[in-house]
Amino acid sequence: MSKVVITGRIPDPAVESLRAEHEVWMHEDTDPISRAALLEAVIGADAVVSLLTERIDAEVLDAAGDQLHVLANVAVGYNNVDVPACAERGVVVTNTPGVLTEATADIAFGLILMVTRRLGEGERVIRSQTPWSWGMSYMLGSGLQGKTLGVIGLGDIGAATARRARAFGMHIAYASRSECDPELAEELQATRLETDELLATADVVSLHCPYSQATHHLIGAEQLALMKNTAYLVNTARGPIVDEAALAEALRHGQIAGAGLDVFENEPAVHEGLLELDTVAMVPHLGSATIETRTAMAQLAADNARAVLSGRAPLTEVRP
Ligand code: GLV
Repeated sequence: MSKVVITGRIPDPAVESLRAEHEVWMHEDTDPISRAALLEAVIGADAVVSLLTERIDAEVLDAAGDQLHVLANVAVGYNNVDVPACAERGVVVTNTPGVLTEATADIAFGLILMVTRRLGEGERVIRSQTPWSWGMSYMLGSGLQGKTLGVIGLGDIGAATARRARAFGMHIAYASRSECDPELAEELQATRLETDELLATADVVSLHCPYSQATHHLIGAEQLALMKNTAYLVNTARGPIVDEAALAEALRHGQIAGAGLDVFENEPAVHEGLLELDTVAMVPHLGSATIETRTAMAQLAADNARAVLSGRAPLTEVRP
């Protein structure tokens, strides 16, 4: 029997599938595990199933010991994992692509609607019992039809978001390290642009690239200054891709029209400059937060761990 450590609560079916074959320890609290508890819990683990709230670095790997074979991250993003440090120690890293694509695109599009149609702001009017009445020019937003969605990072989630935008009558532009598959470009009628050109022309910019050193503050003061003052920025990828202080400044000065954020630079903290702005819609990292998706993510992570522990190939490996 191998020892599997799960660093936070995951849905029961995934835990049960691991328990059927292995000895399982799970951090049961809803709060993230503390660093000290993590370093202690991983000792002697053959597999670690980790959540994105845990930083898995050399210190954690060394605490676990040489018998550690697999680190199964329950997320598609794996910026919380030091992949080269895992590779050096022969630890296989896996993530959960595919199963959360639609859920995350739903949240991206939800934020696009929230911010362009002022839904959060409108809801605050009702909840605060602020007097209001229907008016021809009352709380006007911005329509999406005929506008351009600029997708930065046209992977699975970017493409799924673009499909939703097409259904709303939007045009698609994208900026990506490489040209997308011609079939996808044809389906989305998507035009590839340089990032700066996309920023300068899109009506809504939606971020779908992974977070790494290369994408740290990809959107900062300079990039926000390129955007139209009628444009919106949406981030469902990772917080630190956007310089939050610069975003708050740009919004405060009306340099862009609004922003929709699911992720933040220092989660769970949110830059206080954003809190006072009505032009920003914010939700607490809910991209993959549906019962179906979380169940599937946990199962995929468990299946990855089980595969490696039984000498089979992982289903969705992250290559260093
Ligand atoms: C969620 O943020 C994920 O990367 O899966």
